Amino acid sequence: METLPDVQIVASHTLPQDLIEELDHWYDRTLLADPAYVHVKDWALADWIVLIRFDGQWASVAEIMDQVIRVGGQPQRVAGISGVMTHPDRRGQGLAAQAVKAALDHARDELNAPFGLLTSTHKLMPYYRNLGWTEVPVRLTFTQSDGPSRYDPALVTSMIYPLSAQVWPNGDIDFNGPPW
Ligand SMILES: CC(C)(COP(=O)(O)OP(=O)(O)OC[C@H]1O[C@@H](n2cnc3c(N)ncnc32)[C@H](O)[C@@H]1OP(=O)(O)O)[C@@H](O)C(=O)NCCC(=O)NCCS
Repeated sequence: METLPDVQIVASHTLPQDLIEELDHWYDRTLLADPAYVHVKDWALADWIVLIRFDGQWASVAEIMDQVIRVGGQPQRVAGISGVMTHPDRRGQGLAAQAVKAALDHARDELNAPFGLLTSTHKLMPYYRNLGWTEVPVRLTFTQSDGPSRYDPALVTSMIYPLSAQVWPNGDIDFNGPPW
């Protein structure tokens, strides 16, 4: 019988170097190779990682970052959810959904964040919609070391998940730093 997954939320600075390198290897082959994201060089750093493992081997991950962005020019705290990735051998078993849910639970219960915010390619939007996320079709700008940049709206959309009674404000989103 298959063992149950071990689900942990760990501070990102405590991840062992060999695991960081293995995850980077898979990020390079998947998310970072996506045309929607190839122009991004500087990424927001994760504060927490949801790590789902079977028998000590990573199976699925999601990153959480505690951020203050700007929406319509006003500061807005969000829990950024990013780097959602499942090992190719473990896909289609609901692990990414489990990782995202664990990330949102942590954002609400431990960080008191009023919203989750992620960016999604259009092909994955239905997947996140099914998990309760709503797209916010506004302009998405962010900062890189060589100046301001933006996501192509034809490729990437922001999606939010309510974690409180707050209403999402109107206006374009500025990540106020590197994006996720
Ligand atoms: C997307 C991803 C995280 C899903 O992981 P998972 O653990 O298999 O996800 P779940 O089991 O919770 O859900 C599987 C569903 O994801 C959706 N999905 C996965 N990849 C997809 C893709 N490229 N396009 C559209 N939908 C996709 C499908 O609806 C799939 O349903 P199916 O199993 O009936 O086909 C995984 O395919 C992955 O790591 N991809 C590479 C990294 C990536 O693109 N991450 C998304 C960051 S926004």
